[in-house]
Amino acid sequence: MVPAAEFGAAAAEEFLAAMSLHKSPFYAISTGRTMLPLYEVLQEMVEQNRGRIDKIYPVAVNEYAGPRDHPGSNHSYFARHWMRIPNAHTVFEFDTRVIDPEVEARRMEDLVWTLHGLSTAVLGIGANGGIGFNEPGSTRRAATRLVDLSPETRATAAAEGWGDDPPSRGLTLGLNLLLEATRIILLAKGAAKAEIVAKALAGPVNADVPASYLQEHADVVVVLDEEAARDLPGHLVE
Ligand code: GLP
Repeated sequence: MVPAAEFGAAAAEEFLAAMSLHKSPFYAISTGRTMLPLYEVLQEMVEQNRGRIDKIYPVAVNEYAGPRDHPGSNHSYFARHWMRIPNAHTVFEFDTRVIDPEVEARRMEDLVWTLHGLSTAVLGIGANGGIGFNEPGSTRRAATRLVDLSPETRATAAAEGWGDDPPSRGLTLGLNLLLEATRIILLAKGAAKAEIVAKALAGPVNADVPASYLQEHADVVVVLDEEAARDLPGHLVE
C-alpha cells in the first residue's frame, strides 16, 4: 500500500521490474482511470532516461464493440496515454472494424498463445469485481470473447467518453489467458474500490467476483493506495 501521491511511481516500478521475467516480451495492458498515473510516470521516466519500455510488446486487455476511433474507445485511450511514451510499441488490439467480432476474439486468443502467452498482465478491477470485460459470472476458464457489458461497466463507459450511448458489448481477453500470465500486477486506487478489493483479495474465490481468482495465482503484485486498501484485513497489507 502506498500514499495516493506515490501510486503512479509504485505502479511504474512494478511495471518495469516485471521485464526481468524474460518469459515473453508480451504484457497485457489496461485502460481506465486507475492506469493514468502509471502511464504518466512511465512517460516521465522514459523521457528522463530512468526507464525503458522499448522491449515491451503490449496487448490490449479489452475493447468496446463500437467505433474504433470514438474518443471513448480503448484504441483512442491507448493513442492518448500509451503511445505518447517515447519508444512505445503499438498495442496489439481487438480491431472492431471487422465484420465478425467473434472471429476477432478468436484471432486475439490465438495470437497470444502463438506468442507463447503473456509474461505480465497489468490489470485494474471493475467496481463489480470484473477483470477486463470478464464480468461477474466469468469462470477462471472463460475464453477471449465477445461479452454483454454489465450496467456498472456501461455506466463507467458513459463517464469515460461514450456519453449517453455506451456500447452494450465488448471484446475481452479471457481469464483463461490472463491468469496464465507469469506475473499479474493488479492496480486499484480510491475509496470507491475499497470494498471490492477486500472481497477480491480476502473473500471467497468464485465467479461472482472474477478478480477473486487472482488469489489462486502464484505471482500477483498488488499496488493499492491507502483508500483502496482500507477494508483489507491488516495481515494482508504492507
Ligand atoms: C472496468 C473495465 C476494466 C477496468 C476497470 C477499472 O471494469 N472493464 O478494464 O480495469 O473498469 O476502471 P477504472 O480504472 O477506470 O476504475
